[in-house]
Amino acid sequence: MPENSCKIAVFISGGGSNLQSIIDHIEQGHINADIACVISNKPNAYGLVRAQKANIPTHINDHKNHTTRESFELELIKTLDVYNIKLIVLAGFMRVLSTTFINKYHGNILNIHPSLLPKYTGLNTHSRVLEAGDTEHGCSVHFVTSDLDEGPLVIQAKVKVNKSDSPDVLAARVLEKEHIIYPLAVKWFCENRLAFKNSKAHLDDSPLEQAVLLTQDLETLLK
Ligand code: GAR
Repeated sequence: MPENSCKIAVFISGGGSNLQSIIDHIEQGHINADIACVISNKPNAYGLVRAQKANIPTHINDHKNHTTRESFELELIKTLDVYNIKLIVLAGFMRVLSTTFINKYHGNILNIHPSLLPKYTGLNTHSRVLEAGDTEHGCSVHFVTSDLDEGPLVIQAKVKVNKSDSPDVLAARVLEKEHIIYPLAVKWFCENRLAFKNSKAHLDDSPLEQAVLLTQDLETLLK
């Protein structure tokens, strides 16, 4: 592990393919970071297996064992306190975090969402895109604020929607792009190039008035 690597906690609820893409890019030396722990609110999330295979400490914090959001989050904080975390990466984490929690880690939480935000916040984005007859869809990485799925955008990638797509086929096409834009955003954050200042995402000290759009040139940063 390179010295001074950026310590990350990844929160998951499911398959963890985004977690895997970040693990892979760290292992390939594209990101100078250390996933200090993976926390899941679902005991049987496959992402936990991925973490264990990569020798990353895992923690299960099942929301069903808590009667309040506060107690669920206090347990999250207790776990995070054990590690010296610089960045929390929400990777398919399907619990809403309170303003208190988000403010505690202000500017240090990233999320990935399967739509071209601000379009389609919330759930079932792929079906909604198909129902609306959109010809374009995609994914977004953004800083987390207390407005659900509305924090400042960092990077987006677009995909074409085909008339014959099912929600699953479309989801798979979007996930391929998620696996590129999330490692890129994490890389920039860990290189201190990406920051959340004055309510805006900044890249290389310039405010991002709109999301960076994934290009082939950017993709080469991960090769
Ligand atoms: C991803 O598509 C991610 O964008 C989405 O969940 C999936 C997790 O996949 N997140 C959200 O919908 C958050 N609102 P993964 O577990 O294979 O990384």
